Amino acid sequence: MARRVLSVASECVPLLKTGGLADVVGALPGALAGQGWTMRVLMPAYPGLAAKLKGARKVWAQKDLFGGPGRVLAGRAGGLEMLLLDAPHLYDRAGGPYGDAAGDYPDNPERFAALSWAAARIAAEGMADGWRPEIVHCHDWQAGFAPAYMRFAGTRGVGTVMSVHNIAFQGTAPADRLDTLRLPEAAFTRELLEYWGGLSSLKAGLVTADAITTVSPTYAAELMRPEFGMGLDGVIRARAGDLHGILNGIDTMVWNPETDPAIHPYNARAPAGKRRNRAALLDEFGLGEVPGPLAVVISRLTEQKGLDLLPDLLDEFTWRGGGLIVLGTGEARIEMALRHRADENPGRIAVRIGYDEALAHRLFAGGDAVLVPSRFEPCGLTQMYGLRYGTVPLVAATGGLNDTVIDANPAALDAGAATGVVFAPTDALALGQGLRRLVALHGDGPAWRRMRRNGMTARLDWTRSSRAYADLYESRAP
Ligand code: ADP
Ligand code: GLC
Repeated sequence: MARRVLSVASECVPLLKTGGLADVVGALPGALAGQGWTMRVLMPAYPGLAAKLKGARKVWAQKDLFGGPGRVLAGRAGGLEMLLLDAPHLYDRAGGPYGDAAGDYPDNPERFAALSWAAARIAAEGMADGWRPEIVHCHDWQAGFAPAYMRFAGTRGVGTVMSVHNIAFQGTAPADRLDTLRLPEAAFTRELLEYWGGLSSLKAGLVTADAITTVSPTYAAELMRPEFGMGLDGVIRARAGDLHGILNGIDTMVWNPETDPAIHPYNARAPAGKRRNRAALLDEFGLGEVPGPLAVVISRLTEQKGLDLLPDLLDEFTWRGGGLIVLGTGEARIEMALRHRADENPGRIAVRIGYDEALAHRLFAGGDAVLVPSRFEPCGLTQMYGLRYGTVPLVAATGGLNDTVIDANPAALDAGAATGVVFAPTDALALGQGLRRLVALHGDGPAWRRMRRNGMTARLDWTRSSRAYADLYESRAP
């Protein structure tokens, strides 16, 4: 019989996505199926989601789930076995999944503690259809309390895995919420729940789960350092022996330039089709001729992503022949600085503020290079989409960027192994130099074509990593 994992997360493709977490949570069930593990994904029933479930049936309920009734609906969506936690007092909100125009919802600690609580109860009792997991796999702070609830309830026979997709988000709450969060006062110690005088659901998960994973080998090493651990590095160092860096894969069916319905198709053997996508893109954005590399950015526009460094470097980049199209949303100051540059140089720079899946595909297809100058990047998916689409990534040497792109240094060029440009540290000087190298490489036809082909034929799917997860589950299952 197939083995059973309950995956717990705040977002999952195809139902709801704000970032790479949703891509990964949505890809894991398919990847693990090939390894003999069935995975059900538990997430909140945000407005409209329950209607998208096929064959929905109630499999779990609790009368008082943090201030109102909660029930879990099981059904299928996009080929996945989904479990939606329906609790209108927590999730039926007009804004986004985490907040609205006024900022984060003040009861976020309780909203996601409830998700974790439901997971812990399902682990202890199973569901109405008899399904009970052998492993609970928790993603990020929203699921962090689940292993803690299981520990405090004395639940046996179910292993727990805590995955860190981004340590910057820690699910902190004041200590006086212990009670409303259903946590035992006796556990408010440094070894367990206490975190700099308050609470953190991520810390709770990190100290109570059987194993910890993060989404790249380099980020696993970085997390143990104060510069990257953001206050949790000590907690992670203490568990170094249980920490696994497992690189994310990408969905190579959705991200396939040969079959992508959003673009003019092409492949590694006949990349000429890429030129049509480039021309269409220049046309769509009203850009003039771009003799150098056409760079694209598809990203949250935040400090993490290092995109605040870009505006000041664009005069030189465009003077050297480059062009730029940005798609993203985020911090107002970064949006404004980029827009300002586009207004000054409308023939070479275009900025689209917003979230647009189809446009993202057109940008990966039509761009020559994708820029990912992150200050930290647990894994990063866009550099891998770039590789797959022959859009050479320029990335900072951090986290998963460092594990997925091979820098075009002389040795790698001689060996024919280079796939992109890697720079360090993440500052304006090094990024500026990276952009100069990008322009120079673009001007070297044979080297550029070789890099592009290397990227397009690189193994980016889930095969290797799904085996690593399966081995980990196996080692932690009862
Ligand atoms: P993060 O999760 O930190 O935002 P990732 O690189 O792991 O970074 O994942 C980001 C995902 O969101 C990718 O699938 C990317 O294509 C997508 N994305 C980001 N911004 C946009 C946007 N404005 N429009 C469409 N897709 C976007
Ligand atoms: C987070 C990280 C990103 C990673 C994604 C999926 O959002 O910021 O680097 O790719 O999770 O694991």
